[in-house]
Amino acid sequence: MAEGSVVVIGGTQGLGLEVARHYAGRGRPVVLSGRDPARAEAVAATLGPNARGIGLDLAEPAQLADRLAGVEQVGHLVLAAIERDENRIHAFQLAGATRLATLKLIGYAQVVHLLAPRMDQAGAVVLFGGRAMDRPYPGSTMVSTVNGGVTGLVHSLAVELAPIRCNAVHPGIVGDSPYWSAKGDAALEPVRNRTPGGRLVTMEDVVGAVVFLLENRAVNGVNLAVDGGWLLL
Ligand SMILES: NC(=O)c1ccc[n+]([C@@H]2O[C@H](COP(=O)([O-])OP(=O)(O)OC[C@H]3O[C@@H](n4cnc5c(N)ncnc54)[C@H](OP(=O)(O)O)[C@@H]3O)[C@@H](O)[C@H]2O)c1
Repeated sequence: MAEGSVVVIGGTQGLGLEVARHYAGRGRPVVLSGRDPARAEAVAATLGPNARGIGLDLAEPAQLADRLAGVEQVGHLVLAAIERDENRIHAFQLAGATRLATLKLIGYAQVVHLLAPRMDQAGAVVLFGGRAMDRPYPGSTMVSTVNGGVTGLVHSLAVELAPIRCNAVHPGIVGDSPYWSAKGDAALEPVRNRTPGGRLVTMEDVVGAVVFLLENRAVNGVNLAVDGGWLLL
């Protein structure tokens, strides 16, 4: 296991929080981030004494060097943050689209740029994309777009960061995640019906995939779909 903390950018809720919880529960030092430092510290406190919270906004990449200055030796780096932009091409809203594109494509890359020199050579990076890249849903125009960008970023980083590895996880609709569970069964039932096995992806499934991508020393440059075979039906 790589030496240093597990850093989870976008770790105050949802999938990032579950990854942070996994590692904090195993006694690893964890640094998690959200936009509001007080919220991040409060969430980190719920994970025990080895976790701490920091504030940063990935859509303001010029500020990231300052925000990450206190993060020292990094074992693994997970980039899970998203500021969802529900956008459609016939009613395109520039502000949200610009923030999401900046956050996922520039912000993710800038965090890796800043933290890579502080990473253990046996460490790994996992980026979060998503299956909206291949199966768009109404309003996913920019989400689908940035997920595609994550795929390319993984390929480039796996080469540039070596021997540090870089992979991405691309979940389908995660039924028990805060964003999708809030939409209720009317939104989830069609996804369940279209998934072989009739079962939605869970946050636990995604955490298991992230741990595999971080810890398996032979897995590199992989864009891993975790979707229950959703695209096959
Ligand atoms: N949930 C799903 O079904 C699903 C499916 C496919 C892919 N994914 C991907 O999985 C990842 C996690 O999704 P999720 O649903 O678990 O997310 P979520 O519950 O919406 O949580 C998003 C996280 O990002 C942080 N964040 C929001 N805006 C930010 C900004 N501008 N700068 C920095 N951090 C920011 C939030 O922190 P604060 O609010 O505290 O600032 C929070 O910790 C995302 O990258 C998403 O694209 C999710």
